[in-house]
Amino acid sequence: MCGIVGYIGSGRAYGILMDGLRRLEYRGYDSAGVALERDDGTLSVYKSSGKVADLEHLAEGKDTTGSLGIGHTRWATHGQPNDVNAHPQVSRGGRLALVHNGTIENYRVLKETLSQCGYSFASETDTEVLVQLIDYIQETNHCPLPEAVREALREVDGAYAIAVVERDQPDQMVVARKSSPLVIGVGEGETFVASDATPIVGHTDQVIYLHDNEMAVIRRGKPLEVQSLAGEARPSLDVQTLRLSVAQLEKGGYPTFMLKEIFEQPSTLTDCLRGRITADCRRVVLSGVVENREKFLRAHRIVIVACGTSWHAGLIGKRLIQEMCGIPVEVEYASEFRYGCPRISEDDVVVAISQSGETADTLAAIQLAREMGAFVYGICNVVGSSIPRNTHSGTYIHVGPEIGVASTKAFTGQVTVLVLLALCLAQIKGTLRPYEVEPVAKALQRMPATIKEVLRLAPAVEQLSRTFTYAHNFLYLGRGYNYPTALEGALKLKEISYIHAEGYPAAEMKHGPIALIDDEMPSVIIAPNDSLHDKVLSNVQQVKARGGRVVAVINSGDEAIKSLADYCLEIPEVPECLTPIVASVPLQLLAYYIAVNKGRNVDKPRNLAKSVTVE
Ligand code: F6R
Repeated sequence: MCGIVGYIGSGRAYGILMDGLRRLEYRGYDSAGVALERDDGTLSVYKSSGKVADLEHLAEGKDTTGSLGIGHTRWATHGQPNDVNAHPQVSRGGRLALVHNGTIENYRVLKETLSQCGYSFASETDTEVLVQLIDYIQETNHCPLPEAVREALREVDGAYAIAVVERDQPDQMVVARKSSPLVIGVGEGETFVASDATPIVGHTDQVIYLHDNEMAVIRRGKPLEVQSLAGEARPSLDVQTLRLSVAQLEKGGYPTFMLKEIFEQPSTLTDCLRGRITADCRRVVLSGVVENREKFLRAHRIVIVACGTSWHAGLIGKRLIQEMCGIPVEVEYASEFRYGCPRISEDDVVVAISQSGETADTLAAIQLAREMGAFVYGICNVVGSSIPRNTHSGTYIHVGPEIGVASTKAFTGQVTVLVLLALCLAQIKGTLRPYEVEPVAKALQRMPATIKEVLRLAPAVEQLSRTFTYAHNFLYLGRGYNYPTALEGALKLKEISYIHAEGYPAAEMKHGPIALIDDEMPSVIIAPNDSLHDKVLSNVQQVKARGGRVVAVINSGDEAIKSLADYCLEIPEVPECLTPIVASVPLQLLAYYIAVNKGRNVDKPRNLAKSVTVE
C-alpha cells in the first residue's frame, strides 16, 4: 500500500525521490507526489493521480531543485485517488508538507475542532487533518516543528508513519511512526527515509529502524536524534546492515517480477533451507523453535493466523503439525480473528504467517493474542518488518524481496518453513524418530532441483494457457494437503487475470459446485500419487461425466488420470507432505500465462497492494 521516501543531503532530492517512488511502486498505489525544499527555504509540492510516470510528466519543466524532499505513493483509503487527495498534504498557506502511511482514526473529531479554529480542508484525507493539527499547535505554541509534531501525535489515534518538512527550514525533516514501518538510511553526509528499505538500497546499507512511538529529527550535518514521543532519547541508535542488493530489486532479464520470482524458486528454497537440516538429514534445527522448546512443549493447541496466500500456507501447516506432532491446530483468517471471540490462553502458541510482515490484520491478531497471554511465533519474509518485531520469536523464510504483487516464492518458502517447523517440533516432542525425519528432510534438500525440473513445464503451460484465455470461470480442486494448493491456485488466477476462480476440496464438489460444471468451466485438479489419489481420481471421473474439461496436475506416469483428463501437467513424486510445494508451481505458471495472454499487468494487478497496511 502507501509508500514513503525522503531525502536530505547534498544531492538533488528530486531524482532520488523519483527513483525511490519507482522502487515503491510494487506496493500498489493510485497517486503519487513529492514536496521539494530549495536551499532558500521555498517549498514546492507536485502531486498527481495515476502513476509515478504521470507525476514525472507533471513536474517536467518545473523547478525541481532542492536537496531536501519527501515523496509518497498513495493507495486511497479516505477519499478518491485524485490529485487533491494525493500526498504530500500541506498545511494552511502551504507552510508544512507531510506524507503519511496509515490511518488516523479520530480524524473526524480533530477536523471538527480545527474547523472551529478557522481551518478549512481541501482534501477528504485524514492526513490533511494531521498536517493542519501540527500547524495549529506550532502557531499556537510558537514552538519548533519537532515539538509540534510530538504534541500533535499525542492527540492522534491510529497508525502512522510520517515525514514532515517546513518552509524556511531547508535543513530539517521530522519523521515518526506508530504501527507502520519507517526506516532511516544513514549515508555519508546524507540521510534517507523510507517505508521499507527498497528505496534506500544502492545509496547506503546502514539503516536504523524506527520503533513504535518514536520520532527522529534529521538535521543536515548534525547527528541524528531519535527519541520516544514522550521525549526520551533512544540510548543506542542500533545501526543495522541491510542485506539487500539492487540486483534483487530488478527484473534480471525477465519480462516481469512475477516470472522472475517463479523461476527464482530453486534458489530461494536453497536460501530458505540453508543451515536448517543437518548433513545426515536426520535432524532439523529451527533456532526459534529450539530456543522456545518449553513454550512449544507446553502448547495444548497451536493457532495459526494469516491472510490470503499466507493463510493458505497456514492450512498446510495445520495438516503438517497435526500429522507430525499430534498437536491440535486451528487456522484463522487474521482479519476475522479479533471479531470471533477468540479463546486464547497462556497454553496456546499462536503462529503468525506473513510475507510482508506489515499486514494490519495480522498485526492486530498478534497484538490480541499477546494481550491474552499466548506465546506468538512469526513466519515472515521481510527482515526487520513489524511482525518480527511484535512477535516473541520466529523464523524468516529468506526468499528475498518479492516485488510481484501475487505471492509465489513466498508461498513455497512459507510452506517449506512450516515443514521444517513441524519436523523440528516433532523431534522435540518425540513424535518422529530421526529415521522418520530423514526421508522428508532428504526430499526437502532435493527440493531446489525438483522445482527446477517442474519449471521445465513452462513452455507446455504457456501453450496450454492459450486454450483457457477466454474462460470466464475456473474450478480448482484438491484434497488433503492439496486442498489449500487448490485455493492458492484459484487465488493466483483471479488476482492477476481477473477470471473468477474457486478453490474447493474435491469431494465437496458434489455438494454444490458440481452444478456449475459444463464444457465452458475448466477444472484444475491436483492429483498426485498420495493417500487420496484414488478418491481424487473419482472426482476427475465425476467432472468428465458431466462434460467438464480437466487439467490435472499428476505425478509422471499416472496412466489412470491421463486416460481421463484433457490435459496433464506431470510433476515429480515427493513425500505427500511436500506435494503442495511442487504442485503449486505449475499453477503459478498457468495463472501467469493466462494473465499475460489477457494483457494484464501481472506485477501490479488492479486494486491490489503488496502489503495491506489498513484494516
Ligand atoms: C496473494 C497475496 C495476498 C497476501 C496477503 C497477506 O498473492 O499476496 O493474498 O498473501 O495480503 O500478505 P502477507 O503475507 O504480506 O501478510
